[in-house]
Amino acid sequence: MTQQTIIRQQFDRHANAYGRNPLTRWIGRSELDAIRQLIPPAAEPGVTPALDFGCGTGRLTAVLLDLGYRVTGYDLSPEMVAKAASRLGNQPHLTLTTDSRAIQGSWPLITALGILDYYADPLPLWQEWQQLLAQDGRLVVTSPNARSPLVWLYTRVSRFTCPAQGHTGEDLRETAVAANLALTDIQPVFPRHAQLGHTLVMRLRQAV
Ligand SMILES: C[S@@+](CC[C@H](N)C(=O)[O-])C[C@H]1O[C@@H](n2cnc3c(N)ncnc32)[C@H](O)[C@@H]1O
Repeated sequence: MTQQTIIRQQFDRHANAYGRNPLTRWIGRSELDAIRQLIPPAAEPGVTPALDFGCGTGRLTAVLLDLGYRVTGYDLSPEMVAKAASRLGNQPHLTLTTDSRAIQGSWPLITALGILDYYADPLPLWQEWQQLLAQDGRLVVTSPNARSPLVWLYTRVSRFTCPAQGHTGEDLRETAVAANLALTDIQPVFPRHAQLGHTLVMRLRQAV
């Protein structure tokens, strides 16, 4: 069984309970606040495309729609996508899919919130995003901060649902370079402290 199949099954199984934990909801709100600062409103409302990679139940997808993007939310898990569909309803500028063929192209904006958590080696994901990113595009990504004591706790609790791990800022920067991406911003969130912040919020672009 591939790693993606295991992750899909875990999220399918836990989709109904996803987002109910008050602590993770609190952390999630801080992440979204930081991400909003990194994403400008759509250049052409209703036209400028954005890919929400691993959209889950659609919490960032909703923000991108608010900012005027024509959004494609893509996720491995049909159950998570079904939750996103019921949360967001029918909207003219929204497509939700579990089909990786539907996201092939060149995106001016890609977001990937809460995905690296499930990959010990982030390089294949960085490479996939680099392939999907337009030459002048922007990629906004989060990762649990391996240096944070909160992440120590998070990784232990996650064993009961979808086992997660943290990454250090140094490792992420190195892997991004290996994937031909340049890390232009990295900020810790919850709290905003390099050693303690639970989440690293990053913005990247093509290296060349
Ligand atoms: C923790 S949830 C985050 C969902 C959403 N981005 C958010 O922040 O609320 C992680 C999601 O990533 C999806 N996922 C993990 N690996 C993926 C991959 N390689 N391609 C697409 N989706 C993926 C999972 O199915 C799950 O729905």
